[in-house]
Amino acid sequence: MSDPDRPLRLDAPREEALEHAVKLVTEAWRSFDRFRPEEPQLDERVRALLKAGLPHDPAPVHEALDDTARILDESIAQPRPRYFAFIGSSGLEIGAIGDLLAHTYDINLAVDAGAATEIERQAVRWAAEFVGYPATCAGAFTSGGTISNTSALAAAREHALPGSRLEGLEGARPAVYCSAEVHYSITRAIEMLGIGSRQLRAIPLGPARGLVPELLAEAIDRDRAEGITPVAVVATAGTTLTGAIDPLDAIADICEERGVWMHVDGAYGIPAAAVRPELFRGFERARSVSLDAHKWLYLPKACGVVLVRNQEDLVASFAHEQGYLPHQRHELHAVDITFEYSRPFRALKFWLAMRAHGARAFGEAIERNLREAHLLWETVEARPDFEALGEPVLSIVPFRHVPPGVKDVNEHNQRLADALQADGRVWIASALIDDEVYLRPCFVNFRTTEEDVLDLVEIAAEVGERIASA
Ligand SMILES: Cc1ncc(COP(=O)(O)O)c(C=O)c1O
Repeated sequence: MSDPDRPLRLDAPREEALEHAVKLVTEAWRSFDRFRPEEPQLDERVRALLKAGLPHDPAPVHEALDDTARILDESIAQPRPRYFAFIGSSGLEIGAIGDLLAHTYDINLAVDAGAATEIERQAVRWAAEFVGYPATCAGAFTSGGTISNTSALAAAREHALPGSRLEGLEGARPAVYCSAEVHYSITRAIEMLGIGSRQLRAIPLGPARGLVPELLAEAIDRDRAEGITPVAVVATAGTTLTGAIDPLDAIADICEERGVWMHVDGAYGIPAAAVRPELFRGFERARSVSLDAHKWLYLPKACGVVLVRNQEDLVASFAHEQGYLPHQRHELHAVDITFEYSRPFRALKFWLAMRAHGARAFGEAIERNLREAHLLWETVEARPDFEALGEPVLSIVPFRHVPPGVKDVNEHNQRLADALQADGRVWIASALIDDEVYLRPCFVNFRTTEEDVLDLVEIAAEVGERIASA
């Protein structure tokens, strides 16, 4: 750094700080390669740091970096191979490098950013091609499924009720349709969009836990007869609870016959369309799709994608003309199709990861997760002390411990989930499915191995027996 008066100088050369950070990152990656025997407790140093007020004076940058690494190491990190809770993520190394580069240039994708803007468009096309959505689509990178779903539903609202973005919804009677097990980001989206979550029609599930199409058609027709405007049907391609896929082709038929917008929430599941297209047949007919590359494409958060068949649909709900953002030079600013204004270059990590690994490698990693889910299911099915909800469709496998002599299976499994978290060898959460408590592992990590899967069952059995006999 040549100017000694420049503000915000570190106590060591920035190159040294970077080298030190690289060492810490390398150590973290090595520690993610294999499971660790337990989750560490917060140590004294971290406890002291947590009590500190705003530091007015600088600390040596090496010390600050070491403290940062210590805090991160004592946090629950989803990239570890035995993190099975919720829908985890993997922090794929090349994605983390992509983020560092993107943040270094700190490009803003609100307005034209030259090559970066073109790369985002290309990355959107690549994401679509990977899952089998029409290559003529448009879209943008978002902070995740919540914003992708909200953006798509904003477009659907304007489509169904033109002018509602300007006039509001007074006098309108909109409704949105979904499965009873839709992700609650949809509920939140329609609350934010002024539609109101009371207008969300949760259609009952069939035996495969997808919504029943006949009941969907009836609900839409009944509403229409009463003067209600169907804004969208949200079909879920991989529910968060069990990984079920709504009957997409039948939903597409219903939507096309009635001229209703079909949105597919594939935030979790749609990457699997690259290797199991038959499970997702019909999703490509949707007018909009959400896909989270920070879930089953292994990239670090945040990396969501919203795809639409027609760019005009996003323009109609998001474009503005502002004095400080004239349109003479660029026909369209990225912000004309997005809800966010300042927007980081999230597309870069996706683009870089596809270049560095090739799309095929992502398909193979997804296949491996599907096999792991199946292995868990087979292992549990073969044991008398466990039962599974059913054969997994994707990579979520709800199962529970049912040893002889346990009277309240729900209470036992809730205690088991709590005890497993306290134990720390595997990280798993419970879920309530049809009012029954299950352990609900989800496999979306490329680091997870068959050994991790089999140990999950062994550890659950060991801890479960201890609780049952206490
Ligand atoms: C099906 C589905 N949709 C939407 C979301 C929300 O995604 P995000 O957390 O990226 O906002 C999730 C999160 O798990 C999900 O599983």
